[in-house]
Amino acid sequence: MRRPTKERQRRLVKEKPKPQASVAMPMRFDVLTLFPGMFDGFLSESLLAKAIAKGLIEIHRWDIREWTLDKHAKVDDRPYGGGAGMVIACQPVFDCVEAVRRLGSPGELIMLSPQGERLTQPVVEQLATHERLVLLCGRYEGFDERIHEGLQPRLVSIGDYICNGGEVPAMVVIDAVGRLIPGVLGDEQSAREDSFAEPGWMEYPQYTRPPVFRGMATPPVLLGGDHGAIKRWRAEQARRRSERTNEKE
Ligand SMILES: C[S@@+](CC[C@H](N)C(=O)[O-])C[C@H]1O[C@@H](n2cnc3c(N)ncnc32)[C@H](O)[C@@H]1O
Repeated sequence: MRRPTKERQRRLVKEKPKPQASVAMPMRFDVLTLFPGMFDGFLSESLLAKAIAKGLIEIHRWDIREWTLDKHAKVDDRPYGGGAGMVIACQPVFDCVEAVRRLGSPGELIMLSPQGERLTQPVVEQLATHERLVLLCGRYEGFDERIHEGLQPRLVSIGDYICNGGEVPAMVVIDAVGRLIPGVLGDEQSAREDSFAEPGWMEYPQYTRPPVFRGMATPPVLLGGDHGAIKRWRAEQARRRSERTNEKE
């Protein structure tokens, strides 16, 4: 029997936050996956690594396989009725989800699924209001339907295409939600000015030095120092871009 001991469970918690000056509770993500190693690079670079180090975000990875009672450590099986591929079985997922959710407040359980509601900026904003998100990543042909029926997760899709597993979609959720947590971005204003800050709104074009590169010039208004004119120019550019993007849909 491969029940995880307390010690093994402790070892599975890979990223321990190092709280610094922050007094707010960190937002907690639990990722339930068959491939926890896929998150190594993602969590150790850039803004997310800094947010973890500052104690703004906590991320715990759990290997679903650690919960299987199968003597060969199998987590999947052939689909009833025949057909291609393998289906993730109920037992390890139910046991893993239930054990992880018992650690503190249960949080919101999200199943990454191409059949879920589309991850749009309003959904991201809503997810960011939770203290804890438990992200369940599928693989192979997906989950036994009774996992949906019994655990009643919220299904979230990152778009109308199929990924090999839920790990990359879970990273997208963490990345998009994480940047809304106060203190994660160096400049809070930047999230308020990004595309989708308002439905259908696209950000204006940005330029940096040099003023001319390979014959392509920066619009003179941005170099002139007239902040009113810059604001009007940006608003007009944003309007045109929003129109262009929304026309494509
Ligand atoms: C190969 S997919 C299974 C697709 C499933 N057979 C179907 O047709 O709906 C394996 C896993 O990847 C994840 N996945 C794939 N595409 C996704 C998407 N667009 N959004 C969220 N999760 C996705 C899900 O966790 C899914 O269980």
